[in-house]
Amino acid sequence: MKDVEHEKRLAAEAAAELVTDGMRVGLGTGSTVAYLLEALARRAPRAEYVATSPRTRDAALAQGLAVKEFDRVDRLDLAIDGADQVAASGWLVKGGGGAHTREKIVAAAADRFIVIADSSKLVDELHGPVPLELSTFGLESMLRRLTSVVVRQGGLSPDGGVIADYQCGVVDPWVLAPALSATPGIIAHGLFDPELVGAVFIGVGDEVLRTMKGAVI
Ligand code: 5RP
Repeated sequence: MKDVEHEKRLAAEAAAELVTDGMRVGLGTGSTVAYLLEALARRAPRAEYVATSPRTRDAALAQGLAVKEFDRVDRLDLAIDGADQVAASGWLVKGGGGAHTREKIVAAAADRFIVIADSSKLVDELHGPVPLELSTFGLESMLRRLTSVVVRQGGLSPDGGVIADYQCGVVDPWVLAPALSATPGIIAHGLFDPELVGAVFIGVGDEVLRTMKGAVI
């Protein structure tokens, strides 16, 4: 049986080595990122961090990392985050933790976005559900139009959005992603395109496989 926790830890530790003194680094959200925070706290580079969720912010502060408000940071050297699915094409599905809106903003602000994952996240083709963040304004009318969207229980996002899952197939993410982006009321979706992703570090057994747009590097 795969030891996914071991694989997450290895991928996270490999990514933590990229963080050096003076860097400004975006921190994703999730159980793989929890290993990243531990590794950064151990290595203790003199870096500054922005967090993609209150959960990550609180955990990072508790580990002694210097977390800044993202309103006050104009660019990031690096962002590191987990993923729910990593396709051979380089596309990702993110948002299992409901933090994909901030995660996408942070990834886009970074010179380099590194994804960390265990091997269970590798898929040949992406599949649904695709996480969404929806506006509360007009929510009921949107849910009537967008069938197959299931609202998650658990309250609003830190930005006041409703977290939901679109129960769909993902035949072609290059078609689905712009269609979701163009739908009024969808604040953000969990499809991340390969152009956003600098590299993926995947724990596979006792090794870390590094890929870029699906190719091993
Ligand atoms: C949160 C995310 C996470 O990165 C994704 O859900 C993976 O989480 P984990 O590392 O716990 O498997 O997108 O919104």
